[in-house]
Amino acid sequence: MKTSIYNCNVIELPKIHNRAGNITPLHGGIEIPFDIQRIYYLYDVPGGETRGGHAHKTLHQLIVAASGSFEVTLNDGSIKKTVTLNRPNFGLYITPGIWRDLHNFSSGAVLLVLASHLYDENDYIREYSDFLLYKK
Ligand code: TYD
Repeated sequence: MKTSIYNCNVIELPKIHNRAGNITPLHGGIEIPFDIQRIYYLYDVPGGETRGGHAHKTLHQLIVAASGSFEVTLNDGSIKKTVTLNRPNFGLYITPGIWRDLHNFSSGAVLLVLASHLYDENDYIREYSDFLLYKK
């Protein structure tokens, strides 16, 4: 898909505040612009480690720092942008066709991904050279 990083944005999520803690409820197609078929989370990432160097052909994703912080670098083949996520009531929406790198994880960070489709290895573009060809 020929999307650009300008199609990706940080979305403020609802926060139900209570003196004993907060709740952020999310529903596919309501707070986030796609239906959710899969949730996964990354945790216990060793200091200095980088993950997620790939793009997807059809997958829409919302990435949330459920705990701690990390940076997401988005690249559409022309322009790069780095977003810091560090609050559980903000999520980064990533359209299909965007290369993403995940880095600078704080200790104890939990990276939550809400995804529009089930896991499918055929949806991945794992080689950067293939990604640039795909974006032409
Ligand atoms: P991958 O998406 O390549 O992670 P990263 O890009 O952050 O390194 O996934 C790593 C492994 O986990 C890969 O072998 C596929 C497997 N995996 C699943 O089985 N289901 C999933 O939903 C995800 C995200 C990964």
